[in-house]
Amino acid sequence: LIKRILNSLCLVAPLLKPMCGPVGSKGNLHWNLPLPCRLGIVSPAKTGETAMTVHIGATPDQIAPTVLMPGDPYRARWAAETFLEGAELVNEVRGMLGFTGTWRGHRVTIQGSGMGMPSLSIYANELITNYDVQTLIRIGSCGGMQPHVAIRDVIIAMTASTITSPSSGMLRELNFAPCADWDLLQAAVTAAQAKGSKTHVGGIYSSDVFYAERPDLDTQMTRHGILAVEMEAAELYTLAARHGRRALAVLTVSDHLQTGEALPAQDRERSFGDMVEIALEAAFPEG
Ligand code: HPA
Repeated sequence: LIKRILNSLCLVAPLLKPMCGPVGSKGNLHWNLPLPCRLGIVSPAKTGETAMTVHIGATPDQIAPTVLMPGDPYRARWAAETFLEGAELVNEVRGMLGFTGTWRGHRVTIQGSGMGMPSLSIYANELITNYDVQTLIRIGSCGGMQPHVAIRDVIIAMTASTITSPSSGMLRELNFAPCADWDLLQAAVTAAQAKGSKTHVGGIYSSDVFYAERPDLDTQMTRHGILAVEMEAAELYTLAARHGRRALAVLTVSDHLQTGEALPAQDRERSFGDMVEIALEAAFPEG
């Protein structure tokens, strides 16, 4: 009965539209969610017939087989508005915005992952198992760890080392080496070279802490050629391997552990644009 009432509320949704304030700068993008979710009566995850998940309110057909995953939900909105045609908001559960549109005619979803591997693991797991997503590309920022890596440089992560990840409990004594999908990696490198972006390809470190207190570990990682630190890629690569999907992380250096330099806030969008385009070109190398 409750479901029937909620469904009938959805039918009159357009009439009640003024009751709901716009969420983003394109206020109408959120309107495809059922009204009860918009009014906060019920979680979007509870209104679907089938594959809506605990954390993603989109219906199965609203998520594309290719998903870009920035950590920051507002960066998801910016990337969707900047690079996609006809982008629609498809998820806003917990404010973790997701948008679907097209890029050069290919359907793409840009879904925030949140910060850190436990958060990313929730979204990547649901995208893979409930929405059958095939290609997951993290786009995000990282801290440089080598003298030759500079602010604004692009990092394409071949591997991602960790101390622990959400998968560690299940992998137990196995020191699994999470690595990128080769085809995506190769296409991303080609795209970055064509763009003329200063790019580094190699190993990164996925940390559980932003405010780390282990300078000795940083020294060992720098010594072992780790290019940069971020907080998500290792778990993304591990999940993709487990489920036979394709994954890659394309990152922009936003700060540097050795020099203490950081990208000024006003420069971030322009610098991050190259990374988004490289990720899209890697997903669709045929153009
Ligand atoms: N540490 C962890 N994650 C990051 C950093 C950092 O310095 N910079 C951007 N993401």
